Amino acid sequence: MPTRSTVILGTGSYAPDRILTNEDVAKMVDTSDEWIRARSGIRERRIAGPDEATSDLAIQAARRAFEDSGVKASEIDLVVVATVTPDYPMPSTACIIQHKLGIPSTAACFDVNAACSGFIYAIDTACAMISSGRYSKALVIGAEKLSSVVDWQDRGTCMLFGDGAGAVVIGVSPKRGIGLIGTKLGSLGEDTDLLIIPGGGSRTPTTPDSIARGEQFIKMKGKEVFKLAVRVMEEAARDILEQHGLAAHQIDLVIPHQANLRIIDAIAQYLELPVERFFVNVDRYGNTSAASIPIALDEARKAGRIKQGELTLLVAFGAGLTYGSALIRW
Ligand code: UT7
Repeated sequence: MPTRSTVILGTGSYAPDRILTNEDVAKMVDTSDEWIRARSGIRERRIAGPDEATSDLAIQAARRAFEDSGVKASEIDLVVVATVTPDYPMPSTACIIQHKLGIPSTAACFDVNAACSGFIYAIDTACAMISSGRYSKALVIGAEKLSSVVDWQDRGTCMLFGDGAGAVVIGVSPKRGIGLIGTKLGSLGEDTDLLIIPGGGSRTPTTPDSIARGEQFIKMKGKEVFKLAVRVMEEAARDILEQHGLAAHQIDLVIPHQANLRIIDAIAQYLELPVERFFVNVDRYGNTSAASIPIALDEARKAGRIKQGELTLLVAFGAGLTYGSALIRW
């Protein structure tokens, strides 16, 4: 049992300025604005500049979360970064962010790779570490530069993904029952091949041949991933509600991973909730993997969609295949 409860003290997000519209994508591959909107709900996505890496997006989001929370970099003793597009394979992006933000050298810093569920994995980890009493204030970030791993010649994937970052500052809750009240994580490791970057790891190190085969890019079996996403996100939502003796209608706002509007619509239907109860920004950012939930969370708070005392459900699904859900009482 956790010894201390944890709470989100502030949020921030950042997306690069450059907008890539569906019309722009249609100039690169055989597709159309109409097809992309109908099949995914995406209208545009943000693309980082050539000199911007994941940590550059992350520090902008983190600075906004510091400002929102009133917490200073000097108070942070834990940095957890969820990403599948780290600045480098080694060292972790968390260490780069620590240095850029002036976070003390006594802080523990590491990355989490759970793809689109990464932010939920990261907050669960940070909250457990704070609950243990050994850490007190965490900076948790979901940040991605997916444009660097997208095959811009593959029409089945390139229109889906975008770049961005979202951050939260987490601390000790002054009151039990307020803050992160529960999480549920899991993984379907047998389905690793459905969504994968096959090259660049120890299995297939980067060589001129692996590059010629395009193994440095995201490969996805879209239809299979779609079906699993709907089933597994619904289950992850139901499981956590059941664990806490709650019914779906008691949730004030669902913040789902933003992968495809049709996936969100289907989950709303299965949970028998009006789609208005779901926060949606996939139309403006596409799928930003680990950044998707913290960007949406920040936008939802700042748009006044979350009020004190309300209950928010986060639910995600991604490569791994990982899944996760979290309940937050504000
Ligand atoms: O973050 C979690 C992981 N990601 C996801 O959750 C994504 C899950 N998958 C999806 O969102 C959808 O599967 C896509 C949006 C990627 C694709 O939609 P779909 O309805 O599953 O299409 P499909 O892959 O079954 O393709 C249908 C047709 C195919 O043509 P044929 O074989 O029927 O002639 C594709 O070649 O649409 C074609 N197609 C396209 N046409 C125009 C595939 N991509 C495109 C495109 N533009 N961009």
